[in-house]
Amino acid sequence: MNAQPLFAIHASYLIAAAMFVVGLRRLARVRTARSGNLLAAIGMLIAVIATLAATTNIGWIWIVSGLGAGSIVGAALARWVQMTKMPELVAFFNGLGGAASSAVALAYFFSLEIKRGATLSSVIDGYIILVLFLSVVVGMLTLTGSLVAFGKLAGKLPGRAVLLPARHVITLVLLGGTLAAAIVGAYVASTPTTTVVWMLVVVGAAALLGVLLVIPIGGADMPVVISLLNSYSGIAASMAGFVLLVRNEPSAYMLVISGALVGASGLILTNIMCKAMNRSLLNVLVGGFGETADAGAAGDASEYQNVKRFSAEEAAMLLDGIDLAIIVPGYGLAVAQAQHAIAELDEMLSERGVDVRYAIHPVAGRMPGHMNVLLAEANVPYEKFFDLDQINGEFKNADVAIVVGANDVANPAALDDPASPIYGMPILNCHEARNVIVIKRSLSPGYAGIKNKLFEHDNTMMLFADAKQALLDINAEIKAL
Ligand code: TAP
Repeated sequence: MNAQPLFAIHASYLIAAAMFVVGLRRLARVRTARSGNLLAAIGMLIAVIATLAATTNIGWIWIVSGLGAGSIVGAALARWVQMTKMPELVAFFNGLGGAASSAVALAYFFSLEIKRGATLSSVIDGYIILVLFLSVVVGMLTLTGSLVAFGKLAGKLPGRAVLLPARHVITLVLLGGTLAAAIVGAYVASTPTTTVVWMLVVVGAAALLGVLLVIPIGGADMPVVISLLNSYSGIAASMAGFVLLVRNEPSAYMLVISGALVGASGLILTNIMCKAMNRSLLNVLVGGFGETADAGAAGDASEYQNVKRFSAEEAAMLLDGIDLAIIVPGYGLAVAQAQHAIAELDEMLSERGVDVRYAIHPVAGRMPGHMNVLLAEANVPYEKFFDLDQINGEFKNADVAIVVGANDVANPAALDDPASPIYGMPILNCHEARNVIVIKRSLSPGYAGIKNKLFEHDNTMMLFADAKQALLDINAEIKAL
């Protein structure tokens, strides 16, 4: 290709990469997230067009069929998959990303001409061997790990942590075996058949490793795992980009850049989630946490004293004539699909001059941004969303904190009980409000499986009901006032 078109293609990649970075930046705020997403998507379109323009020996039928099939499936999923099913869809997509990177690396491997008596290392440089195997291994374990995560979240596999005996030893042996197979395949095997066989051993071992790494992790920890696997899929793509660089393919730069962005942002998100849950990444990856939580070992009704029950009618009366109400949404809001009912309550209170705000904990619900997405679906204005740091100082000024289906994110044990598993986790200081209305169905614990002393506080009133029904009842009572 002559210099001018090549310059145009590289310039397009540079523009696309800049759009990815700005798009990612805009994703950090709810208000700008939609335009950030669009910007990054346009960047990707520019990158795809530039790649097609740069490629001479193109199989148009394959490209057009792939684009057509992908667009139809993507549009159908975007339309029909429910918001609550998003984590498993993301898990599935991650898996496909890993598979694609592995496929790119394997396609390069199978295109190599290795003569009898020659090893892979005599055909390609050491660093290419490294990125080739890394791309295959990370891509394969991302594929199978993501499929297990998908199965757990979709209820097709047991969601609990499956703890095999000696699992750490098995995992270490498999990791060592994968490395050994890669070294033998690259430096010892000296016939085309044996080189291929060792590569297939690496593929199989990496696939098994992905399964073994994810099955010991409980279903509730899956969002963290998915975010980590997302990072892995980016790393695999980046490695595949380095493999393509050998062939002087201009598009390789794009793959390296976009893969690195996915890898880094996935790691940052994983870190944010772990911090907000007060867990180390190692603690999540070692697994078993979901086991205790699913078992619901602690925090049942018999542990509570002085719990005050409240009715929808009493709640409506309490909310009459107040100045500031802070709503604390949690996982139960999503389960009950109560977002429209809470938006209606907000509207009625706002019309009566109440300042209504939403306190959004970074790990409320079961996926990053879970509450933001739910509330946005009910058209709650973004200006009413407040992060933990912004709102925590305001609870002491609030007349009422309305805790809807939230539990762990409002558990004061995180502040004052060093023996608690969530001690040190930042929480929403609902207990500082003059009155707290907690809407949930029972005294059952949340995800962490522990007692919540907030339910026993003097200023707390418990409204035991499904969140949607309770809110509809409160709304009806307010209308009748
Ligand atoms: P949780 O502590 O899990 O509590 C949710 C509460 O919702 C439960 O106690 C449950 O009580 C109630 N509930 C369930 N269905 C309900 C319904 N239909 N109506 C009313 N209430 C209902 O939720 P949270 O406060 O949002 O905290 C999230 C937890 O998940 C944290 O521990 C966090 O670390 C963890 N986690 C979060 C993420 C992300 S990224 N968000 C990822 C992994 C883990 P009843 O059964 O009594 O109704």
